[in-house]
Amino acid sequence: MRGRVVYQIYPRSFNDSNGDGIGDIPGITARLDYLGDGTTDYLGVNMIWLSPFYPSPMADFGYDISDYCNIDPIFGTLEDFKTLLHEAHARNLKIMIDFVPNHTSDQHPWFAQSSASRGNAKHDWYIWRDPAPDGGPPNNWLSVFGGSAWQYVEARGQYYMHSFLAAQPDLNWDNPAVRQAMQRVIRFWLDLGVDGLRVDAVDWMAKDPKFRNNVPNPDYRRGIDDPYHQFGEDYNRDGPDRFYYIQQMADVIKEYPGRFMVTETYPIRKDIITRYLHIYDNYQADVSAPFNFEGLLLPWKARDFKAFVDQFQAGLKPDHLPIYVLGNHDRPRIASRIGEAAARTAAMMLLTLPGVAFVYYGDELGLPDTPVPPHRIQDPFEKRVPGLGLGRDPQRSPMPWTSGPYAGFSKIEPWLPLAPDYTSRNVQSELADRHSMLALYRKLIHLRNFSPMIQYGAYIPLDLDNPHVFGYIREYKGHGLAIFLNFSSKPASFHTNLARGALLYSTYSDLEGLPMDLSEITLRPNEGHVITLL
Ligand code: GLC
Ligand code: CA
Repeated sequence: MRGRVVYQIYPRSFNDSNGDGIGDIPGITARLDYLGDGTTDYLGVNMIWLSPFYPSPMADFGYDISDYCNIDPIFGTLEDFKTLLHEAHARNLKIMIDFVPNHTSDQHPWFAQSSASRGNAKHDWYIWRDPAPDGGPPNNWLSVFGGSAWQYVEARGQYYMHSFLAAQPDLNWDNPAVRQAMQRVIRFWLDLGVDGLRVDAVDWMAKDPKFRNNVPNPDYRRGIDDPYHQFGEDYNRDGPDRFYYIQQMADVIKEYPGRFMVTETYPIRKDIITRYLHIYDNYQADVSAPFNFEGLLLPWKARDFKAFVDQFQAGLKPDHLPIYVLGNHDRPRIASRIGEAAARTAAMMLLTLPGVAFVYYGDELGLPDTPVPPHRIQDPFEKRVPGLGLGRDPQRSPMPWTSGPYAGFSKIEPWLPLAPDYTSRNVQSELADRHSMLALYRKLIHLRNFSPMIQYGAYIPLDLDNPHVFGYIREYKGHGLAIFLNFSSKPASFHTNLARGALLYSTYSDLEGLPMDLSEITLRPNEGHVITLL
């Protein structure tokens, strides 16, 4: 995995092959040449992560799974998936699938059985508790998507727990039968030839064994903050067994050479580096690593990124694999969050840092968040907790391929609106423009693919005399690249004690190849440089 670039596809939004307005698996297969080494225009990523495609009632667009070992008809068939796998491997592209261990759909046969009576054979496959003495929920835990985390079921006279929607009941990982069933699911996909897993919502898998109430959060502002945060996350997640459960999955990955899993973990944002390093110390480094989500959450300030990356890198052991991210299907897009000019510099950072870089589909075009009018809202989060900007539809808009009808994504109006600027911002037009965001991504990804300095090199922090510039060196066997990133929208000058270099890439896509005196450097607004050290 080290040095690789993984490209995240949200299957509903990548490419629609059958004209129903929803992306699907044959649609992805048809676009592989864009990603892998099929044509001269390929992006050059090494792996694709697919968000869920399993049979699902789509209450949370596939993160509510009713059958772990099949494909939802909206997305195609298992045969279509095998074709995708085959065609991807033929292009040197590996496939990572989304694995959702914390919860199933309430329509999964396991839950149907578990909820039918107290005495059934799967009675303890989910988390059932008696009502509180007043008949209400067993404790004050809240669902991430609004309201109580408990739902009453008449047939059992009990509540079940759901960390997300009521349609997503949490599995009971304390039960060995559940652990074994989920291990069988992982084997099913690895036997098919899948290369890796992205493991969903692992923070919620283990709860406090005593089910104690969370503590009210004194800083919570009603009507402004996400209501989930009116309590701390003291007891509803991060339980003592969490690493044991994750190890159950890693153990299966280990049975298959060359496979890997990346976990979705959002540590509580206090002593964040210590928390990340603690996770690494409890993982099996040869087969697993956590996402580090600071690229989604930190303000775009050179000082903040420098402080985080320098300390994080210094704390990692040699076999630990850092995983950097700027966007995903749950968070506002980078181009909207920090602006398009800064997003170019962010891309240069992402693709020159050590470890693995994840690229969210469309970010390579500079795709912005797309406003969604009220009558077209899809995301259950926005429907249940409206008006706070928590909805995730804007970052899931369809991939714009061409300036033609429906952006070449579909033959009909897509399930979510296309970005309003798709006639100018699309794959076709950006491939033709050597200054485009796509051109920059391609250059940086191809550089990464061929540079042992970026793939395997040491990360050497630099202390620069300008607070707006984040700089570092990547060094391998005596060869070095220096990276300088101006986080401000003004020019920035600084000094270094490096001697001479040559500008390899600028985010402005000019002056490239020219020699540079590195004793004093001036970057233009939001400019980033990759410099070969001579
Ligand atoms: C993860 C997914 C998110 C989903 C949630 C529940 O955070 O990334 O999209 O809604 O888990 O499965
Ligand atoms: Ca379709």
